[in-house]
Amino acid sequence: MKYLNEINRRKTFAIISHPDAGKTTLTEKFLLFGGAIQTAGAVKSNKIKKGATSDFMEIERQRGISVATSVMTFEYKNVLINLLDTPGHKDFAEDTYRTLTAVDSVILVIDSVNGVEEQTRRLMEVCRMRDTPVIVFINKMDRDGKFPFDLLDEIEKELNISLHPLTWPINMGKEFKGVYNLYDKSLNLFTPGQKGTDENSVPINDLSDELLDSKVGTRDANQLREDVELLEGVYGDLDTGDYLKGKVAPVFFGSAVNNFGVKEMLDTFIRIAPTPEPRKTDKGVVAPTDDRFSGFIFKIHANLDPRHRDRIAFLRVCSGRFERNKNYHHVRLDKDVRFSAPYSFMARQKEVIDDAYPGDVVGLFDTGNFKIGDTLTEGGNFYFTGMPSFSPEIFKEVINKDPMKTKQLEKGLRQLTDEGVAQLFTQHGGNRKIIGCVGDLQFEVIQYRLLQEYGASVNFVPLAFYKACWITGEKKKIEDFVRFKQANVMEDKDGHLVYLAQSEWFLNTERQNNPDIEFHFTSEF
Ligand code: G4P
Repeated sequence: MKYLNEINRRKTFAIISHPDAGKTTLTEKFLLFGGAIQTAGAVKSNKIKKGATSDFMEIERQRGISVATSVMTFEYKNVLINLLDTPGHKDFAEDTYRTLTAVDSVILVIDSVNGVEEQTRRLMEVCRMRDTPVIVFINKMDRDGKFPFDLLDEIEKELNISLHPLTWPINMGKEFKGVYNLYDKSLNLFTPGQKGTDENSVPINDLSDELLDSKVGTRDANQLREDVELLEGVYGDLDTGDYLKGKVAPVFFGSAVNNFGVKEMLDTFIRIAPTPEPRKTDKGVVAPTDDRFSGFIFKIHANLDPRHRDRIAFLRVCSGRFERNKNYHHVRLDKDVRFSAPYSFMARQKEVIDDAYPGDVVGLFDTGNFKIGDTLTEGGNFYFTGMPSFSPEIFKEVINKDPMKTKQLEKGLRQLTDEGVAQLFTQHGGNRKIIGCVGDLQFEVIQYRLLQEYGASVNFVPLAFYKACWITGEKKKIEDFVRFKQANVMEDKDGHLVYLAQSEWFLNTERQNNPDIEFHFTSEF
């Protein structure tokens, strides 16, 4: 337990949201509080523009810039915070899912006008799989949104999580007057156009105090009294143990663009959010306090500039101390690897570091040694688990336009799959290749990169598949199933069998006809 002090001062998390809910704006406010940036707009300029743009090169260019913003490390009140960025564009959702495996908690931003949206649902599903602790920030209270009680209801039902408000809004939209802090019993007043400051905070221990009426008017004061009575009756005190188990999510209301309600949340975050957590491996759990170093690769970022073919692998440190120039064991390849220039992302500057501790993310130059999910250790022979692949949404068959380049194509497909750009399925007992992605944009990226980097020219033929299901069961039953369903059975990158279903109806029929076979929507079951 040599590094306990370092471990206890670290918090590693991600901000997640449906595009446009305010993730970038909130990130920026956090960085301002942490002193990592001095001006508003600094994060914005790196933002990947959303929408149905097919100009993926522009997106990739911006992704290039955003390597430095993939991890943002800053200090706030002596806590070292690692904020992991997740791509805003929905076509890169897989990237986001993987990043979520490297954090210990998340802040979920919800737009008060739109409530729970499609991406919110999916991201939360991933968080629920791992019981990741969640804090909810209900943003844009300066706009006329849904009523707070309705929003809480909607979030609880749709995301299947219990909520616990720690602040409560007084009105919304043009009438938004601020939030009442239920935890430290103070009133935080909102002045449109003016950024939130501590001077706007008024302690109100007793809500019957007339000071409340004088600050927000009698009608709103009475409404707040009524709301708070109800809230205290329903929720009581927050059980941080339940939050840490991912059962209850504390809720804050505010307006990120006005920097309102953000500091309260950040202060609570550093108080209650988990420090680096133990991690599961195929040989048991590794505690962050284990003295020997271990970590895993959760993201690989390729450089699209043909003059610089290097890739950057992002390593999450799970235990012990990572040191520059020391030999570590690459478990999958069973060989030693050493890094002379690992870097961190302090204050958004890339800088070479000498060491890193659990919770930290280190950027490693990679010449093709790493796959997503690889484990590095100081000798141990185990793999971190919990990096599943999810069923893609869009499936296309790869058509090789230049048979002379078959080898290059295979290599390219393998390397792009290792990076996690897409999932590759190869026909079981055949050579048909199908690529599965979450968004169409990725197909453009793949086509472009295969040509530029590997000289392989391909076309894609859309296939009408609905889901990929990993199948398990008794050997004989699986063999029979594979024989009958040959055209639909593929192998994933690790050789596991996958059934591609044409529709929900087909999948349900197969499930009924084959009660001894299990169909899984993710590769880890
Ligand atoms: P994202 O990263 O989740 O996609 O969202 P982002 O922060 O970019 O915010 C999306 C839009 O919502 C931005 O406006 C942003 O200014 C606005 N926004 C963020 N927080 C609040 C808030 O508390 N209240 C209101 N009313 N708006 C908010 P935009 O017009 O798309 O961009 P910009 O021109 O303002 O940069």
